[in-house]
Amino acid sequence: MDTITPADMTSGWTPHSWRDCPIKQVPSYPNPDKLAAMEARLAQFPPLVFAGEARNLKAQLARASKGQAFVLQGGDCAESFGDFTANIIRDTFRVLLQMAVVLTFGGAMPVVKLGRMAGQFAKPRSSDTETQGDVTLPSYRGDIINGPEFSPEARIPDPARMEFGYFQSAGTLNLLRAFASGGYADLHQVHRWNLDFVQNSPLAAKYQDLATRIDETLRFMAACGMTSADTPQVRETDFYTSHEALLLPYEQALTRVDSTTGESYACSAHFLWIGDRTRQLDGAHVEFMRGIKNPIGMKVGPSMEVDDLLRIMDVLDPENEPGRLTLITRMGAGKVAEKLPPLLRAVKQAGRTPVWLCDAMHGNGITTAAKVKTRRFDDIVTELRGFFDAHEAEGTVAGGAHLEMTGRDVTECVGGARGLSEDGLGERYETFCDPRLNAEQSLEVAFYLAEELKSRRASKAAA
Ligand code: PEP
Ligand code: CO
Repeated sequence: MDTITPADMTSGWTPHSWRDCPIKQVPSYPNPDKLAAMEARLAQFPPLVFAGEARNLKAQLARASKGQAFVLQGGDCAESFGDFTANIIRDTFRVLLQMAVVLTFGGAMPVVKLGRMAGQFAKPRSSDTETQGDVTLPSYRGDIINGPEFSPEARIPDPARMEFGYFQSAGTLNLLRAFASGGYADLHQVHRWNLDFVQNSPLAAKYQDLATRIDETLRFMAACGMTSADTPQVRETDFYTSHEALLLPYEQALTRVDSTTGESYACSAHFLWIGDRTRQLDGAHVEFMRGIKNPIGMKVGPSMEVDDLLRIMDVLDPENEPGRLTLITRMGAGKVAEKLPPLLRAVKQAGRTPVWLCDAMHGNGITTAAKVKTRRFDDIVTELRGFFDAHEAEGTVAGGAHLEMTGRDVTECVGGARGLSEDGLGERYETFCDPRLNAEQSLEVAFYLAEELKSRRASKAAA
């Protein structure tokens, strides 16, 4: 890989052409020279991922777009420099694997595992400033930009944070790669964790049946000679990383030309997405993303109009390439039935088959009377159900789920089998941004999704 700008075939695109476009959610760095020096420094660093890995992911996403795989994308709303420990990384990875096993079984198809990890540091904000009492300061924009503490010094954007973000991403990715291929991801082990969960869950009776059937399947496979010792698919897993491509100076600096194809890849993660606030057709984020060859995503909220969606898709995926574009819809439980079907219909009529994911989190934020940001477990499941219903009605493929979740036992979303109440939110409310499902709530969602996939598979087979 080298860093020379290619004479790109994509009309007028270069890794820096976004700089000529209007940009939203941009931090104002007080010292442009310091920023430029950091960008130059990062541009010399090794890539965090390889183009070949991004291509493998694209091929798996292409299968998901046809209903031959299911995508599970999950992780923190925002990773933090303060929470950089092996245990935190391990716990999120473990729950994602636990969920994936349940989904693989329920859906009878491979699950593409995509962590919002190893680079999910930059956050779009609804306001440029935050006021507490009579003090107003710039908003916190994620640890790769400024600090969360409510002080004037912390809130100044500092380019040095990009270097820390790069190294934390490298450290996280290194551990994830070791977990994925070093024995930790062994199917038997993951299943044992699920058995523990089922035994301790208030919904034990409901999940016991599925857990027992997975148990029998593993025994059957072992009897046929498919054991961890001689079957890599039992012992290892594929795991990919993703984050919102918000901080374009950082993303540009980590963009590299793949020496085997001559094409540009963003090498900060396998998969990048455009947020709901930065998806303007003529904007800088769409401009940057159209030229990189990674598989990419775009959030689609309730304000998206059919015509705009089709126009943006033409720009981001002009060749209608399988696996290239994932649309991550986040309508909210109350709007999904109204807002999603027209988009599915129009995209289908345009002859396009993106991967459709349901982000069941970002349309479902509420604030309690005590001013705590939370989400209701039931709203999350309701949006997921509405997503499946809409796809079934339109004859399109419900390709996967996107969740904000952690492997920790936090108390950030209300509801779930333990019935976490608003009063209980204060116990372990640890997020730096949006409220996440805890490990138990995440697994509950996975069991719900597995049942959904199984029953829709059965009704399709009967049709
Ligand atoms: C997010 O995924 O954390 C996020 C900010 O989402 P959206 O762009 O959909 O609001
Ligand atoms: Co979020």
